[in-house]
Amino acid sequence: MNILVVGGAGYIGSHMVKRLGQLGCKVTTLDNLSAGHRDAVLCGEFVQGDMADKALLNQVFAQGQFDAVMHFASFIQVGESVQEPAKYYANNVVNTLQLLDVMRAHGVKQFIFSSTAATFGEPQYAPIDEAHPQQPINPYGRTKLMVEQVLADYDKAYGLKSVCLRYFNAAGADPEGQLGERHEPETHLVPLVLQAASGRRAHISVFGRDYDTPDGTCIRDYIHIVDLCEAHWLAVQHLAQGGASDAFNLGNGNGFSVQEVIDTATQVTGRTVAVQEGPRRAGDPARLVADATRARKVLGWQPQYADLATIIAHAWQWETRK
Ligand code: UFG
Repeated sequence: MNILVVGGAGYIGSHMVKRLGQLGCKVTTLDNLSAGHRDAVLCGEFVQGDMADKALLNQVFAQGQFDAVMHFASFIQVGESVQEPAKYYANNVVNTLQLLDVMRAHGVKQFIFSSTAATFGEPQYAPIDEAHPQQPINPYGRTKLMVEQVLADYDKAYGLKSVCLRYFNAAGADPEGQLGERHEPETHLVPLVLQAASGRRAHISVFGRDYDTPDGTCIRDYIHIVDLCEAHWLAVQHLAQGGASDAFNLGNGNGFSVQEVIDTATQVTGRTVAVQEGPRRAGDPARLVADATRARKVLGWQPQYADLATIIAHAWQWETRK
């Protein structure tokens, strides 16, 4: 297959590009390198540029003959989305609409969209399945939900088929050690804990110990980046085989608290992790755990690295790379 990966130089996109290359796909990465890294694109063709640049998009599509598009080029920080909503609506919604319209103009009809648990808002029950109401509580989540709704309308009107994959907490790194998480600044728990373990950071701050959870810290469902990428590949195949547009929650169904992540990292690395107590971070639900039964049933998704220690071990291999 011939696939365009928008945002293919970022954390999730770069792992996806590597996987597609291994699967024998022809891959083109479009990335403006605002957050991604050129050297993370391990195969295929690379085009540096922005989704906002319609002339460039038209040029890339005219040359590409793509079977499908995967879109990883969104801004992802919840807190920043509250401070700077315009930036989020412009990139995550307006630029995505432009990408979809260029796809339509070039007759490309299959789209895999990176959505998020943040579209659900404050959980009404756990684990969260696809029937859970979607009531996002921040602009980031709203941008993702808007695109999900646009995609439903575009399917009905234009026959553009899509799969929305709602990630819970992506973590871990390429088991072969070639790729990993390199956000600048880093805000995610697993890499921050490992930076505290390696000495790159003085400590990790625990954002609140007064949640209604067994140890008082927030619970999240960590999913290995390789398992996440596999779900994208299955989603592309689902559409290629004539499957209907759909949306799936992606997580392992196991919740781990911030303290459990720190404890597991301590065991995996054999290092001490200095911990500082901090206040709650605005907008953090106490517990986010996925019910991914539908992804297993419909896509045949089978996570390989569901174990938190393995996820952390792979991220540690990346953190300690030479
Ligand atoms: N945390 C800390 N200290 C830190 C960083 C995080 O205690 O220094 C805690 C957070 O409060 C949260 C947990 O660790 O309870 C996980 O936080 P992350 O920032 O790693 O992940 P989130 O659950 O906030 O974010 C994830 C994705 C986001 C997405 C969000 C939607 O990484 O991109 O889910 O719910 F927007």
